[in-house]
Amino acid sequence: MDGNGRWAKKRGLPRVMGHREGVKRVREVVTAARELGIEVLTLYAFSQENWARPKSEVSALMELLQTYLVNQLNDMLTNRISLRAMGDLERLPDVVRKTLDETIERTSGNSEMILNLALSYSGRYEIAQAARRIAQDCLDGVLSPDKINEKLFSSYLFTAEYPDPDLVIRTSGEQRLSNFLLFQAAYSELYITPVLWPDFNRDEFVKALVDLQRRERRFGMISEQLKPCTVNGS
Ligand code: IPE
Ligand code: MG
Repeated sequence: MDGNGRWAKKRGLPRVMGHREGVKRVREVVTAARELGIEVLTLYAFSQENWARPKSEVSALMELLQTYLVNQLNDMLTNRISLRAMGDLERLPDVVRKTLDETIERTSGNSEMILNLALSYSGRYEIAQAARRIAQDCLDGVLSPDKINEKLFSSYLFTAEYPDPDLVIRTSGEQRLSNFLLFQAAYSELYITPVLWPDFNRDEFVKALVDLQRRERRFGMISEQLKPCTVNGS
């Protein structure tokens, strides 16, 4: 979700106004995803690198997160959305951490959609913590090194329970992953749009999904190998 700052700047507004408008699009896109039957929606809300922003902006973002969680709880319960979070969550302010834990707990029984917030998240950090835990399990004798393969490694990532993302959407025209789901996005389709996040509404989201549906995903194979699946409709 990129481009909040530029959206505000274009209008001569303080950056925080861009973030506020961005929260509205979060609500809109979450609702659309839920209606369209998306199973897992991960939103890159705050990266580990974002901690280096001016203190006032970090505080404003944390306050917005806190308000979002409090305001959206009822909606999540009504629409049976299960909230999750991944990242170095210890770094979040205590009050946010507490609200986050409560929201996760209260929505844990919901099964219509998983809304996964990447908070204080870094893909490299995630991979490093997986490696550390795998090494520890080997030392503790509960894992043998010859069992380590891609599938096992995935199970030590924050996303262990979720499938790899089909689509990664990047707003505001930047052409990079910015430390997002580095391991998981190996075969994800990328959708890069110049639209700034505060303008990324339901129509833009649907456009990205339609674009994905038109693509042929070969996973390293050739077109002809995929045809039988398409014909059978499976
Ligand atoms: C929002 O956009 C992303 C967050 C960290 C919440 P930015 O704040 O990065 O906006 P730009 O890149 O300055 O336009
Ligand atoms: Mg940015």
